[in-house]
Amino acid sequence: MTVHPLRLVVLTRNLEDGRFGTAVTRWFAREVERAEGFKLDLVDLSVVPVAELPERIEDADAAVIVTAEYNHAYPGDVKTAIDAVRRPWYAKPVGFVAYGGRSGGLRAAEALRLVFGELHAVTIRDSLGFREEDFTASGEPVDASTPRAAGAMLRQLAWWARCLRDARADTPYPE
Ligand SMILES: Cc1cc2nc3c(=O)[nH]c(=O)nc-3n(C[C@H](O)[C@H](O)[C@H](O)COP(=O)(O)O)c2cc1C
Repeated sequence: MTVHPLRLVVLTRNLEDGRFGTAVTRWFAREVERAEGFKLDLVDLSVVPVAELPERIEDADAAVIVTAEYNHAYPGDVKTAIDAVRRPWYAKPVGFVAYGGRSGGLRAAEALRLVFGELHAVTIRDSLGFREEDFTASGEPVDASTPRAAGAMLRQLAWWARCLRDARADTPYPE
């Protein structure tokens, strides 16, 4: 039983109908609702001003970055958003849902681990990565094991989020 839901920010970009990233984001948001225990704050970087991000991350217990892969890394607007926030990332767990071409975006996720290491965040070992053929036209994953993978990642995220929420409340994070 989770008495206090974990506040989860999902950072995504360009949520428009018909885009693959939109299908991935909407599916993941449904998985978050299904997992229970989370209160979702969906942040579309093309709509939410960068100036609002520090407060949204400060209020969160955990974050998930939904990112495409561009030239073996993450798009520039994702990096701009991450860089607009500093202290609120400290001692927070961060997970990744990536998408792209053959790699399923996983190089973008791995590249983000370096960034979040510098920001004193804890990255979740299990990430999700998708190619367009991994989803049906109606926005559902083709592989029946994909919801299980999302569930595992969300359980790891929740474990860290609870630990770190308690730890931050107990002792200020040392700088
Ligand atoms: C500039 C650019 C570079 C890309 N580089 C890669 C890449 O290195 N690896 C990959 O798997 N896909 C790559 N892609 C494919 C995108 O990840 C894929 O088309 C994705 O769905 C784009 O998502 P978006 O529409 O949300 O930006 C690239 C696409 C663009 C536009």
